[in-house]
Amino acid sequence: MDDRMVSQDAMHEDHSLEYSLRPQNLQQYIGQDKVKENLEVFIQAAKLRQETLDHVLLYGPPGLGKTTLAAIIANEMGVQLRTTAGPAIERPGDLAAILSALEPGDVLFIDEIHRLHRSIEEVLYPAMEDYCLDIIIGKGPTSKSVRLDLPPFTLVGATTRVGLLTAPLRDRFGVLSRLEYYKEEQLTEICLRTAQILDIGIEEDAAIEISRRARGTPRIANRLLRRVRDFAQVLGKTTISVSLAKEALDRLQVDKLGLDHIDQKLLMGIIEKFRGGPVGLDTIAATIGEESHTIEDVYEPYLLQIGFIQRTPRGRIVTDLVYRHFNLEVPSE
Ligand SMILES: Nc1ncnc2c1ncn2[C@@H]1O[C@H](COP(=O)(O)OP(=O)(O)OP(=O)(O)O)[C@@H](O)[C@H]1O
Ligand SMILES: [Mg+2]
Repeated sequence: MDDRMVSQDAMHEDHSLEYSLRPQNLQQYIGQDKVKENLEVFIQAAKLRQETLDHVLLYGPPGLGKTTLAAIIANEMGVQLRTTAGPAIERPGDLAAILSALEPGDVLFIDEIHRLHRSIEEVLYPAMEDYCLDIIIGKGPTSKSVRLDLPPFTLVGATTRVGLLTAPLRDRFGVLSRLEYYKEEQLTEICLRTAQILDIGIEEDAAIEISRRARGTPRIANRLLRRVRDFAQVLGKTTISVSLAKEALDRLQVDKLGLDHIDQKLLMGIIEKFRGGPVGLDTIAATIGEESHTIEDVYEPYLLQIGFIQRTPRGRIVTDLVYRHFNLEVPSE
């Protein structure tokens, strides 16, 4: 599953390049206009008042730019970024150590914040609210609680599963920003920018072709572009033309809407075995040999997003768009 060309999750080969492809400031960050405009105002206001920025929660599907934005926030505020992740913090003491090492104004980025342990969340509450740590020293009846002051800091949390956050944690963020899938034009702009950084020429139409197949996700756009660049280089071309892009993408088996063989198997399975549905998630899972939660978390979101699948009380149905996409006759009733 993880080596799907169109996986939204970062793959091994993405990591080495993601760093250099990341926009460094808000101006270079393409799209997400609402989120960007809000952050711009809050950042400016905080700087004018010489205060730290309010805590920010960034949420949305993988590969849309949450980590990138966290780094930009630190950059724009002119402070250091400290990075950790929910699963990496095992004991309350781990978090206490991270917090007490912060410098005034720092941005602490906690990725996958929905995976923080409850006992650790409780350390975070007073830290977020009052910039302090409650530490219990000793054990049993002689133990006592000591309050330690922390420097003011900004917590930036990121999650793909905002529904899993506890209410008390969510409520302590002053800014909640939801990242959306990108439009084709924005992905085109991202492709053009990436091509420039990778030092390869690209026709605008070729960038558009890649964007159409990138499932609204910059990470996928960048990955597809890199693979198309491989084709270009093997063929000795210094510019990616639209015909080359199309041919390469077809060979990578990513179709015109960014669907790959797993999406096709899933959609065709519902059509062929269940006459287009409704059919329950578990039944679909059994038919195509995948776990239900994988279908729900990984395959389905994009298909729902482009209106290929609908959720109904009686199960999933495929829409007419799917029949048209596969050049099938749309069933009459
Ligand atoms: N607005 C943008 N403009 C240009 N490039 C972007 C933008 N957003 C993301 N990218 C590119 O997409 C890649 C993935 O972004 P990022 O790692 O920030 O996603 P993420 O939301 O943190 O994903 P995950 O949920 O998997 O952690 C980055 O390397 C960056 O190059
Ligand atoms: Mg990330």
